[in-house]
Amino acid sequence: KTILLKDYQPPKYKVADVHLDIRIFAGKTLVTATTRFTKNHDGAEPLVLNGERLKLVSVAINGAATTNYTVDDKTLTIPHPGNEFTTVIETEICPEENTALEGLYMSGGNYCTQCEAEGFRTITYFPDRPDVMTIFTTRVEGDKKTCPVLLSNGNLIEDGDCGDGRHYAIWHDPFPKPCYLFALVAGDLVHIRDSFTTMSGRIVDLRIYVRAGDENQCDWAMESLKRSMEWDEKTYGREYQLDRFNIVAVSDFNMGAMENTSLNIFNTALVLARPETATDMDFERVEGVIAHEYFHNWTGNRVTCRDWFQLSLKEGLTVFRDQEFTADMNSRGVKRIDDVVRLRNMQFPEDAGPMAHPIRPDNYIEINNFYTLTVYEKGAEVIRMQHTLLGDDKYRKATDLYFDRYDGMAVTCDDFLQCMQDSSGVDLSQFKLWYSQAGTPEVTAEGHYDAAAKTYHLTLSQTVPPTPGQPDKKPMHIPVMVGLVGPNGHDLDVTPPPSVIPAKAGIHTNQTMDSGLRRNDEKGVSYLLELKDSKQTFTFKNVAVKPVPSILRGFSAPVKLHTNLSDDDYRFLMVHDSDGFNRWESGQILALRMMGRMIDTVESGGAAVTDPAFIDSYGLMLDQANASNADRALMARALSLPDLAIIAQQRKIVDPDTIFTVRRRVLHDLAARYRDQIQAIYDSCNTPTTYSNDAESAGRRALKNVCLRLLMNGPNPPVSLARQQYESANNMTDRVAALSVLAETDGADRDAVFADFFKRFEQYPLVIDKWFSLQASAPIPSTLDRIATLKDHPAFSLLNPNRVRSLFAAFAMNNPVCFHAKDGRGYDILTNAIIALNTKNPQIAARLLGPLREWRRYTPDRQAKMKAALERILAQENLSPDVFEIVSKTLK
Ligand code: ARG
Ligand code: ZN
Repeated sequence: KTILLKDYQPPKYKVADVHLDIRIFAGKTLVTATTRFTKNHDGAEPLVLNGERLKLVSVAINGAATTNYTVDDKTLTIPHPGNEFTTVIETEICPEENTALEGLYMSGGNYCTQCEAEGFRTITYFPDRPDVMTIFTTRVEGDKKTCPVLLSNGNLIEDGDCGDGRHYAIWHDPFPKPCYLFALVAGDLVHIRDSFTTMSGRIVDLRIYVRAGDENQCDWAMESLKRSMEWDEKTYGREYQLDRFNIVAVSDFNMGAMENTSLNIFNTALVLARPETATDMDFERVEGVIAHEYFHNWTGNRVTCRDWFQLSLKEGLTVFRDQEFTADMNSRGVKRIDDVVRLRNMQFPEDAGPMAHPIRPDNYIEINNFYTLTVYEKGAEVIRMQHTLLGDDKYRKATDLYFDRYDGMAVTCDDFLQCMQDSSGVDLSQFKLWYSQAGTPEVTAEGHYDAAAKTYHLTLSQTVPPTPGQPDKKPMHIPVMVGLVGPNGHDLDVTPPPSVIPAKAGIHTNQTMDSGLRRNDEKGVSYLLELKDSKQTFTFKNVAVKPVPSILRGFSAPVKLHTNLSDDDYRFLMVHDSDGFNRWESGQILALRMMGRMIDTVESGGAAVTDPAFIDSYGLMLDQANASNADRALMARALSLPDLAIIAQQRKIVDPDTIFTVRRRVLHDLAARYRDQIQAIYDSCNTPTTYSNDAESAGRRALKNVCLRLLMNGPNPPVSLARQQYESANNMTDRVAALSVLAETDGADRDAVFADFFKRFEQYPLVIDKWFSLQASAPIPSTLDRIATLKDHPAFSLLNPNRVRSLFAAFAMNNPVCFHAKDGRGYDILTNAIIALNTKNPQIAARLLGPLREWRRYTPDRQAKMKAALERILAQENLSPDVFEIVSKTLK
């Protein structure tokens, strides 16, 4: 059942075109696929089509019905079909009973599809693999009353009445595509409409379809779509090719969204956004995912993947593109911090755990399990490093070559890299290892200043840890962006080591921030060091004074960095570094180092004390945050302590209770010492104006809410302030921030606001998701009991992935203290949910296993209980391949 990259073979038959006739009736849908095949090999091979959960009605070849085929639960095989032939295959399916939300299924009374990765095979028999690309013509027929809207990919070429209260629409997509990009929507939907004129003057009809009543929540998504289309023209020279671009929002969706050609299907969570119901973060996510799916039109659809091992070819590249889009639309520096925090929080553990895989995996049981943070986010980092190594101009020329060379084709990650290399002349042969070696490289940097010779030596060394199936690793090609900061706080402009080119302005500005935690307005000077050996020394000349090195500026590579810098060095960089990312990073390192020492103390029986030096430097940051010209969004990040998950990564053995207690202690001491300053910043950000969603206002809200959280962690928490903010808020960001701090208190205020919140927003499922997840995330003892009640709440449903995530994923991932409760109740809650979901929705069940993945790193008592939970799941009958793969690999 394991599929291997090395077994890849080209398809035996190609498809010239396919006509689908899909007739939807209540309770059953009839699919007739007319497919023209041509032979793609020498010799005689049977035609093997994929098909699962299908009721086969009939098969005909070249117009004649036949029984000359065999079927099993995964394939239909026709023995000697010939060189060119047409099959007509009729099947029956039941979307109404499809709870896996893969293939054709129902959401909120409407029909929709999700075919990536291998859902098309549950609609009809077909060569369901991305390297079989063909031209689709789709006739959709349905009831006029229940399905007034009938959509598929491409252009609408005909529609009409069938009598009997039924109607049809015929859609034609002139560009060949793999079947995973097929989509169909049929139902009762309303839409908003706009248009975009492309750079060559083509007018594209843009529509967003939603459930009636939601149409007033679509403007932001439409604006985001237009900005994305413009950005891709300007930044990559990519133009849209069809007359229509449709987006449909559905409330039951396993992932975020899907880039089906000209018919993107979205989770409502990533389309609907109004200030009263969506937070600033929600707005940014909507903008980013709209862009992501739109960008797939070129990186994914026009140029697609040869096979699913190449998934990062489209996902890593498209994530990099959407990150850069968001950086251009908002604050580049803040976006970089947020992306790195996400990578460290979620991808680093994946790389360090039993499921570790390279961005191009070489084996899988269930491909849906490989839509991972590694393929997506680390994949994006790998593209980002290529961008850094080539620089803006060469990178753009290389992507031009890529689109030129491969438009309309299904290709590999090697093909992409080859374009980067061919176009730029930059040697990426060693860099290729990023595609095949798993694990997060660890880089150690040691600097040494020779005052007599006026030279500065920076020695960089690297190791890549062993991962399952890969005990020995080769050194990687790692771009390390470095600056040398002089005692006056300015970057030194020195003679770089031979072979090192000072980073071009283009690269540098792309990697850094231009406002925020900085004391001077000097432009930074950075050097791009290329670490290729396991150990290398770089010598800078004409270094007049002893510098403090600022290493890995802009997080130029997805590695763990160790340095011999002192706390004083980091305090210096925290204020002076011209690179905003490293200013932020320095504060985080100081906090992590101190909390590490405090945890050590607690674990050896002592009492943890917050380092007065840390408290002092935190005061410096508060002063900067209080300045009238402060970049408040950035300061909100700088004033936040590292997340529990990031602290946990520093520990050999993880005790969530100690980590939590220590972090709380620090928050408490900071709030106690700086109560008045924090309150002052809160007040200055709380200027009561009418709501605005510009970046400046969002930054104010972010900083204000960090202050609120600090105050609530201090002595005499201002519960009434939180309540007042909750009640008077004119936007969801402020309301939910107040609710989330109140969630951590126990008592009447808490219960009252939660009851109020439910009543206010009962009609908004996405807001009710927040209601569930805030309760599940609260690190207070009553949470465990509360979850038992919440899972039986009338508004809860195991069939809706957003709701499942809002309760169980929020609990297991955001709430380590309760999830890892010593009595094992947290594990039981999650395990029961996984078992219940295993048959209903295997993809979602498999996702929920993530929090158990690192069981070996916890204290022995917890380890035993987590292992037992995994074994209980493994012992279930009818284990889905999705769940089986993750549980078995996690236990191995
Ligand atoms: N290609 C989609 C997106 O990024 C993800 C869909 C994956 N769905 C799945 N069930 N594996 O952008
Ligand atoms: Zn994607």
